Amino acid sequence: MTFRDDALAGQHIVISGGCGALGLSIVRKLIEHGANVTVNDVLDPITAAARLSDMPTDHFFYAQADLTQADEVAHMISEARGRFGPVHTALCHVGMVIPALLLDYKPADWDQVMTVNVKTAFLLGQAAARAMIEDAVQGQLIFTTSWVAETPWPEIGPYNTSKAAMNQLMRSFARELAGQGVRANAIAPGIVAAGMAQNQWDTDPSYRARAQKAIPLGHMQSLDSVANAFMFMCSPASSYMTGSVLTVDGGCSLYPMD
Ligand SMILES: NC(=O)c1ccc[n+]([C@@H]2O[C@H](COP(=O)([O-])OP(=O)(O)OC[C@H]3O[C@@H](n4cnc5c(N)ncnc54)[C@H](O)[C@@H]3O)[C@@H](O)[C@H]2O)c1
Repeated sequence: MTFRDDALAGQHIVISGGCGALGLSIVRKLIEHGANVTVNDVLDPITAAARLSDMPTDHFFYAQADLTQADEVAHMISEARGRFGPVHTALCHVGMVIPALLLDYKPADWDQVMTVNVKTAFLLGQAAARAMIEDAVQGQLIFTTSWVAETPWPEIGPYNTSKAAMNQLMRSFARELAGQGVRANAIAPGIVAAGMAQNQWDTDPSYRARAQKAIPLGHMQSLDSVANAFMFMCSPASSYMTGSVLTVDGGCSLYPMD
């Protein structure tokens, strides 16, 4: 997919969990197309700097914050506005998975998955939308969910649940904020050849066997495919979309996998 190099010129985009596997390729794509990007992560600045070392320095700003904490989210948004001005798009992207069968699942692990996936999305969506309204910006919240929000993948029940909750959180933001010119959408990637899924693919033979059966297009999703979906959603081409889930999953959600 090709976009003009200046497709995002003048946009300030904030991404949470931006130093992760998917985040880095999204950040690179957004910067390459003219955006200024505030990259949040919980990582210490030295580790983050190493991960971000090949990004053009004028166009990103690293904001360390633990987005499970409301005061840190507010501080991060305030720093972001100080560095690049009003926020146009906030990517509620941070996520994690703790695999286990539901019958064995530890309540503390449930709490952690829900907090890192759903609470951070709520807190960033809320803080970013408040800033957009204050700055009179017709902005957008974009939530990273997953095809498993609709088609449950075994052994990650709480993760499936958290992504379904995020889709409904997105729709609720869309409903409440449309009148104030702020849109909300989600992007649901498939099984990506990176990060959490790649790790499971490499280390868990039963996961690999299931994943190979589950992808109708026959291969894992490239990072570039994920980044292109964000490129489209951040661009003016998506301007009539609100309350939608853009599913880019090679057909995974077409079938139950077993
Ligand atoms: N990898 C896949 O196949 C896949 C598929 C569909 C959806 N997703 C979603 O994409 C997103 C990114 O996945 P990934 O594979 O790149 O994961 P990742 O683990 O590589 O990256 C997640 C990043 O979030 C950061 N983080 C964790 N807790 C944080 C907190 N409290 N505050 C701020 N940052 C925090 C981590 O330090 C890490 O850099 C997640 O929402 C995930 O659910 C991934």
